[in-house]
Order: sequence, then C-alpha cells, then structure tokens
Amino acid sequence: MERLNILIAASEVVPFAKSGGLADVIGALPKALRQLGHDVRVVMPRYYIVDIEYYSLKPLEGSLGVHMGSMGEVWSSVYVGVLPGSDVPIYFIEHEGFFGRKGLYDEDGEGYGDNDNRFIFLSKAAMQLAKKLHFRPDVIHANDWHTAAMPILLNSTYGSDPDFENTGSLLTIHNLQHQGKFYKGAMDVLDIGWEHFNASELEEYDGVNLLKGGIVHADAINAVSKKYAQEIRTPEFGWGLDSLIDAHASKLHGILNGVDYTEWSPEVDNFIPRQFDSDDLSGKAICKAELQKAFNLPERSDVPLIGLVGRFAEQKGIGLLASAIWHLMGLNIQMVLLGTGERWAEHFFSDISGRYPEKFGLFVGYRNDLAHRIEAGSDLFLMPSLFEPCGLNQIYSLRYGTVPIVRATGGLDDTIDNYDAETKSGTGFKFYDATPEALSGTVQWAVDTWYHDSTGFEQLRRNGMKKRFDWDVAAKGYEYLYHRLIDGRLRIRR
Ligand code: ADP
Ligand code: GLC
Repeated sequence: MERLNILIAASEVVPFAKSGGLADVIGALPKALRQLGHDVRVVMPRYYIVDIEYYSLKPLEGSLGVHMGSMGEVWSSVYVGVLPGSDVPIYFIEHEGFFGRKGLYDEDGEGYGDNDNRFIFLSKAAMQLAKKLHFRPDVIHANDWHTAAMPILLNSTYGSDPDFENTGSLLTIHNLQHQGKFYKGAMDVLDIGWEHFNASELEEYDGVNLLKGGIVHADAINAVSKKYAQEIRTPEFGWGLDSLIDAHASKLHGILNGVDYTEWSPEVDNFIPRQFDSDDLSGKAICKAELQKAFNLPERSDVPLIGLVGRFAEQKGIGLLASAIWHLMGLNIQMVLLGTGERWAEHFFSDISGRYPEKFGLFVGYRNDLAHRIEAGSDLFLMPSLFEPCGLNQIYSLRYGTVPIVRATGGLDDTIDNYDAETKSGTGFKFYDATPEALSGTVQWAVDTWYHDSTGFEQLRRNGMKKRFDWDVAAKGYEYLYHRLIDGRLRIRR
C-alpha cells in the first residue's frame, strides 16, 4: 500500500501524560501505523509534567507562530522526541502560559477557564508545525474535542493552502460526553470567520461546540468500537449530538482499539510481583496475596477478589456500584478499588473501606503500577459503565486471567462474550440494565461460579487469556479508512 504522511494530534499520550485511555491509544496506534510503513508524526502539548531531560527531548530550531485572533501572534517553542520503542517523532508544543500548569485539563476538580484557548492553540500549532516541517500530510487525524478544531481549520483557514491541498481529515470520538463547549468568544481565537457560527456548523445555544464543528467538517469520523458507533446515533448516548451524527452516518465508522501487549501482559509485566502465563498460574496466586497485603486485606486464597480501576466519574457506573455496595458487602468476597475523580465517590468508598476493613480496600489517586498489580492479582474485574466507548481495562483483564464483569454497552459489549455454563464458553459476565439490582445479581452469578463451578471459572479464565486485541489489526482498520477518506476527498475537490 501507498505510504501515507499522517499527522496525529491529541491532548495526552502515553508515557508522557495520561488521564485515561486516550493516552494509551495515542501512545500505541502511531507505532502500529509506522510498522505498516507510514510516516507518522504526533503532536501534543508540553505540559509541565513532561520531563524534557528524562525523555531526551530536543528543541526544534526557531519558534512557531500561531495566529490567535485578537490575541495576535502567539509564539511557542517545540521539542521533539520519539514514542518509546519506535522511531515515530512526537512534537511537544511548549507555551508556558497555556501548558506550564499542574493539570492537563483541570486542577483540584476545577476545569481551567481558558481550555478553549489552550486547545485551539494546540490544534493551530499542529497545523503550523506541519508547514514548518514541510510535512505535507495526506491525513490529519484529530482526537476528541481537544483537537477537533483541526478539521475545521483545514476547511477554512487552510482551505486554499497548497501545503494541505490533498489533505483529508479524520476525527476519532473517544468520548462523546466531552464536547468542548465554550462561550462564543472562542470564535475570535479560532478566527475562521463568523459565517461558520451557525447551527449547522459550530454554534449551539449561542455558544461554540468544537466537537460538533469537528464532526461536521471532518471527512470521516470514527468511534472506538462498532457498538459505540451505533449508540452515539441514539438520544440515550448522543449527548445532544445524536441527530447530527445520524445525519453524517455515511462517514461514520467504528474501529475497536487495540492493546499494547508489551505493556499489558503477565509474562513481561515488571510492575507485578511475579510474572505468569496461562500454562502456569502459580504466579497469579502470589500477585493476589501481594495485592491483598497492599490493601490491608486478609491474605486469603479461598475468597474471590474483585478489582476495579478507573476514573471516579458517572460514566464508569460508580453510582450503580455505590447503590449496590451494601448487597455486595454481604457476599463472601473481597474488593479493591483504585481511582480518583468525583469527591463524593472518594468519600463514600473511603467510608465503605472503614466499615468493611476485611473486605473492601481503596486507594484514591492515580497509580500506574497499582493498576497493573490489580489486573494481575484480582480474580474478577468490575466495569459497570453506563456507557463505554471502548474501555481498555476489561481487555487488559482478559490477558491477566482476571474475568471481567461488565455492563453490555459500547466496547464492553463488543469485547466480552457472556459466560454460558452449559458449553463453558465466553470470556466474562455481562449485565444489561443500568440498575444496582442487575449489577449485584451479576456479581453474585460470577461469585457463585467461582465457588461452585470451578471448572467453568477456570475455562473462562483460559478463554480470556487466549484472546488478542492487537494494535496491528486496529491500525489496518485506520489505514483502510485513511485511504477511503483521501479518495473521497479528492473526488469532492475535482
Ligand atoms: P477511560 O479512558 O474512559 O478512562 P479506559 O478503560 O479506556 O477508560 O482507559 C483507562 C486507562 O487509565 C487504563 O489504562 C487504566 O488502567 C488507567 N487508569 C484509570 N484510572 C487510573 C488510576 N486511578 N490509576 C492508574 N491508572 C488508571
Ligand atoms: C475514552 C473512553 C474509553 C476508551 C478511551 C480510548 O476515554 O471513555 O472507553 O477506551 O477513550 O479510546
């Protein structure tokens, strides 16, 4: 296949800065595309936490001027490095005022008041950087609202720029809930002309909606699982954009994320106390005991341990879990939770750990090593999400022989097959209704299986451990889409 120039921009990338799965994806997909022979360049902000020396980042010569409406020309410097384990260049846009802060998007639970300027700046800088590098992209690939301005800019500011003459655009929706909605003053910074401030493009309730504009202007859009691509066309999952997305369904695709198995495999994981594989699970028992110890729970191999790692956000079903917890604590189980986010949840679950010190362990915070140890040491992994565009933890769990209990939505539904006790087939336990009863009923089913159907449970583990969600498969899906959108775009232009 023809070698493509691909410019990917995102607000977070593993290992440099991460708040969720978006970072995992942008840390891995470009490498898989590179393996397919493409010239891929990644752009992200140089947040305060991105350590220049640690990653041996080098400054790019000169500075980058970005026009920001009435703010005038805003200058930034650019650092360049590579995605670890590859030769894929990653460029960091440095601007002390916009990115030299503690958080990525917020601090102490408060979103930054100038997130519109910060991420419009990132999007514009990515486009300008391509020009500066004389890198003429065949495709610009934007991700979520933070870089959704790129396809808008491609069709306006850069509409007749020879450097983007044959460039097509893709916008990946990792999460439709967050849309980048701002006061209409953002139009000034975008500086694309007020004619684009209308209900069919960027305007919504007299404000600017960046994701909406991106959806309209991108040559193609995709969601991170097939099921989620269907769901976002419905009012239940559309967050007000369902009709718009439905109207653009002909350019909507679903590509399931992959997993970086060099990071997430029990055979090679350096964060876990003992590595293991499907032929010999004795290391997993050691991981379980260590995990119980880490959470001050009794070290018991005869009780199923249920893990949960994730943002404490409504999306993740923490409200359901909170309602179901009284029932769950009546079961003969142990639970460990790692997460941070909504304050009420942090307080509520900390109260539960005080009440049930023998059963319930909690760590409030963000700890990558502990996330790995929970994947490895748990018997079951709970993801009761209200919606889940793809979800990565359930896929990691499969690899570690940790059986997922999931709500059948989005990527959770696409990646987990329900257990069938007759045939001993399936990879996890699923529930459908977003109710505490459905959640606790299904946990009970999983726990009963653990206690009373150990052959079935072992088979489930092994079924899951055999599954693979490799990035090269997902990357081929993207490659196919890139080619389609370039062809389509050329047809429109001719
Ligand atoms: P989302 O992107 O919606 O948060 P995903 O399942 O796609 O959900 O990805 C979440 C990623 O973030 C996983 O790699 C998970 O291990 C990680 N993660 C989430 N919360 C924490 C935490 N508190 N500590 C460490 N890792 C976390
Ligand atoms: C979002 C979604 C999550 C998905 C991740 C990576 O954060 O909430 O389901 O796995 O993006 O695409």
